[in-house]
Amino acid sequence: MIIAIDGPAASGKGTLARKLAAHFGLPHLDTGLLYRATAYALLDLGARLDDEDQAVAAARGLALADFDEEKLRGADMGEAASVVAAQPAVRAALLDVQRSFAKRPAGAVLDGRDIGTVICPDADVKIFVTANSETRANRRAIELARRGEDVDYASVLADIRKRDERDSHRSTAPLTIAPDAVVLDTSELGIEAAFAAALKIAQSQKTKSSTPC
Ligand code: CDP
Repeated sequence: MIIAIDGPAASGKGTLARKLAAHFGLPHLDTGLLYRATAYALLDLGARLDDEDQAVAAARGLALADFDEEKLRGADMGEAASVVAAQPAVRAALLDVQRSFAKRPAGAVLDGRDIGTVICPDADVKIFVTANSETRANRRAIELARRGEDVDYASVLADIRKRDERDSHRSTAPLTIAPDAVVLDTSELGIEAAFAAALKIAQSQKTKSSTPC
């Protein structure tokens, strides 16, 4: 079974994807980490984020098992990832690794922006997780503060809105709701209530016929 979870920044998609993966005993890939790691590699080299050749080389050189999440989860890397992710050649370079992950024998859970639309259009379960931007900014500000980052709510909200705009309007694989995805708005839901709702969606959708992506 392939479960595709998409949604904007800080919507709760990562948490739900992890919990669904644990529940069904499936491997999970947070595809945002691929873009964050590509951006990190570029900055580490002293290259520009819009240097397409270097970005493609960095994307091809990623090792899935080696992500240092501590380095990648910061606000600056989320913004940098969104710039890198807008480049079609980078997205193309990361396509196969995501599809291969999804094709594991038992299936997989992938979360990102284009899983249900581009990476796994035939996923058994598609959930588009969303929440209003104020709620998302609030969650992200708490998460970043826990990491020890010096955050203020207004700039986190501005960053989320800027990223939503860039992710939704890029030419390749923009953030859109797949026609067959179920939308889950978590604005008023805590983690357990959101998970219960996601599980219900997954259980009702997984009965659909299973076609590999
Ligand atoms: O955790 P958060 O939702 O803030 O970010 P993320 O999922 O780690 O993604 C960081 C950035 O990578 C996003 O703003 C997107 O621009 C990009 N991304 C993408 O384009 N496609 C994906 N499948 C995953 C992430």
